[in-house]
Amino acid sequence: GAPVEIDLAAIPEGGQIKILWRGKPYFVRNRTEAEIKAAADVDVKSLRDPQPDSARVKEGHAKWLITAANCTHLGCVPLGNQGDYGGWFCPCHGSHFDTSGRIRKGPAPTNLPVPQYTFVSDTRIRIT
Ligand code: FES
Repeated sequence: GAPVEIDLAAIPEGGQIKILWRGKPYFVRNRTEAEIKAAADVDVKSLRDPQPDSARVKEGHAKWLITAANCTHLGCVPLGNQGDYGGWFCPCHGSHFDTSGRIRKGPAPTNLPVPQYTFVSDTRIRIT
């Protein structure tokens, strides 16, 4: 499929949208300052799939988190702004993801993957 461009200006702070690209869903989330801080303050070594938040967002654009929207357990679509870590909760078998989309509790083995994308302006990204 062709690259898709997403207009970020329409997503309010604290909100998220779900888009489809090549038949798969992705989350695009406009994180609050508190959510960014919570994601950055985690001891990376304590994580099941250790990744710093800084490796999951673009430099200078930390408010924007883009991830695949299929749970890494068995593929359900988790619910946003829910769960013990304020990120996502997967109702199928109870996986909790934090505000960086990292697995924190439950059966999912890995973080929600971050796709390849670039900022084409301050308010537009292109998933490639
Ligand atoms: Fe999400 Fe099983 S598919 S916890």
